[in-house]
Amino acid sequence: MTKINDLIIASNNQNKIREIKEILGDFFTNIYSLSDKNINVEIEETGLTFEENAIIKAKYIAELTGITALSDDSGLEVNALDGKPGVYSARYAGEKANTENNNAKLLKELEGITDRRANFTSVIAICYPNGKIITARGTTYGRILEKLEGNNGFGYDPLFFSNDLQKSFGIATSEEKNKVSHRGLALQKMKELLSK
Ligand code: IMP
Repeated sequence: MTKINDLIIASNNQNKIREIKEILGDFFTNIYSLSDKNINVEIEETGLTFEENAIIKAKYIAELTGITALSDDSGLEVNALDGKPGVYSARYAGEKANTENNNAKLLKELEGITDRRANFTSVIAICYPNGKIITARGTTYGRILEKLEGNNGFGYDPLFFSNDLQKSFGIATSEEKNKVSHRGLALQKMKELLSK
């Protein structure tokens, strides 16, 4: 396969970067993170959908660097909460919220609720220097546990019981999670789009 482009990932999350390199490495000459290029920016996620936020981030970094840029926007959607926290997943318990605060708020909101169905969704956007944008979406289904199970992964993983794995993402290994995860599925779709 001819590799014609460099790619910069609009993230410093090492887990995401490793996964993206593993799946899309064949398509790009070099893959950089923001820190590889000494870029330290806070991009405001003002969109109302995962697509809008993923595009905002990829476009910003492509314009800033002149390099093809990839971003991921993702979150947890809970049926009984009308899809919340959704695009607000990272800041569910407030602008300065950490994982602990967010997980505690989720458990509180679901107290006494028996319908615990939820999904994780990820949208991957690639923006080329000429302005062309492509997106791919992946969703994985499960339910929210009554308490944390496991320490693996990040964010809401210990509260998310995966239908595919029949265990929490907090217990699953990263290999197990990546095979069925929203981000893994979106990246596989992106791979198909890039192969065309
Ligand atoms: P972002 O797209 O990196 O801003 O992620 C949004 C938020 O969604 C994260 O901070 C997590 O709270 C949540 N999230 C997204 N993907 C995952 C995942 O794979 N596991 C657990 N939480 C996730």
